[in-house]
Amino acid sequence: MTENYFISRPYVKTIDNGSFTWSSPSNIALVKYWGKKEHQIPENPSVSFTLDHCKTTTTLSFSKKETSSEFSFEVYLDDEKKDDFKPKIETFFKRIERYVPFLKVYHFKIETANTFPHSSGIASSASGMSALALCLMSVERVLLGDISEAMFNQKASFLARLGSGSACRSIEGDLIVWGTHQEIEGSSDLYGVKYPYEVHQKFKNYQDTILLVDKGEKQVSSTVGHNLMHNHPFAHRRFEQAHEHMSQLISIFKNGDVDAFIKIVESEALTLHAMMMTSMPYFILMKPNTLEIINKIWAYRNATNSKVCFTLDAGANVHVLYPENEKETVLDFIKNELVGYCQNGHYISDQIGFGAQLINA
Ligand code: DP6
Repeated sequence: MTENYFISRPYVKTIDNGSFTWSSPSNIALVKYWGKKEHQIPENPSVSFTLDHCKTTTTLSFSKKETSSEFSFEVYLDDEKKDDFKPKIETFFKRIERYVPFLKVYHFKIETANTFPHSSGIASSASGMSALALCLMSVERVLLGDISEAMFNQKASFLARLGSGSACRSIEGDLIVWGTHQEIEGSSDLYGVKYPYEVHQKFKNYQDTILLVDKGEKQVSSTVGHNLMHNHPFAHRRFEQAHEHMSQLISIFKNGDVDAFIKIVESEALTLHAMMMTSMPYFILMKPNTLEIINKIWAYRNATNSKVCFTLDAGANVHVLYPENEKETVLDFIKNELVGYCQNGHYISDQIGFGAQLINA
């Protein structure tokens, strides 16, 4: 399949105005996407848990314009006009215009809100771009008259990827693969797919408590970060390793081998940060409290037979992952021993979710 598969067939319906609201979740990568080629093609496959509570709700209102020579839109976050969001959306529109040719026909009002605080250091690009892509697909569904559910989700993921790579993993749940992997049937560089094989009960309803160590703006934007993988001395080996980790996860997911799962997930998080420490220029995105938390988690795991582990995004916050049957004990551990390392004691309790939802049409 090539990108051309996503060029729309001729529209058979017309619509002058309307609005759609979608709510779309964030996701947390277990094997990390870090490094991309042109057109948002990932250098390696990744897999993520879709989250449940951390999400963006976006309403896209549209009305036909007199002329259709350029994009016309306005953006609001929590009812406040956000002109600084416009360049990113303009870039997104330029990338996807070929696949959704109605973009210049309408004026759009994009109203968006996140369930997590804007200044939490949690990336909103995955939930935000996927919510917007889904709203656009709802418009296209009207214009096409008909589209299968499978094609709707696949194209929404394809469009979301062009907004932000990881956003293509936020359309569905609960375990999503993005990037071609030899052993994962149906996997694609162009969109995310549901993990197609058996997953042991132990990995259902996994919990993710996000410890907000640093709520500031990201020190390195993901675009800059991905670019650092070009000419990186260890890039080639890193991309191979991601493929190996994906292969190993297939039997781990099937057999419920949580110890092996922990090794891969923590290694992936530390590798992501190691790549940033060894790029040129180099960055340390962890804070002292990130390390304190990691050491506490390791000590707790050694002292108990807990299966709690951590992963990291490209920042200082820590995602604490654990099976549902440890919910109470791990939350106690977090409250007693980890909250002190969070900025103003803030953390967000989340768990695996099952994807985006149409709120209003
Ligand atoms: C560290 O998806 O934010 O979270 O495609 O440039 O928008 P762009 O990057 P983005 O990168 C996310 C990187 C990561 C790992 C991951 O989610 O796989």
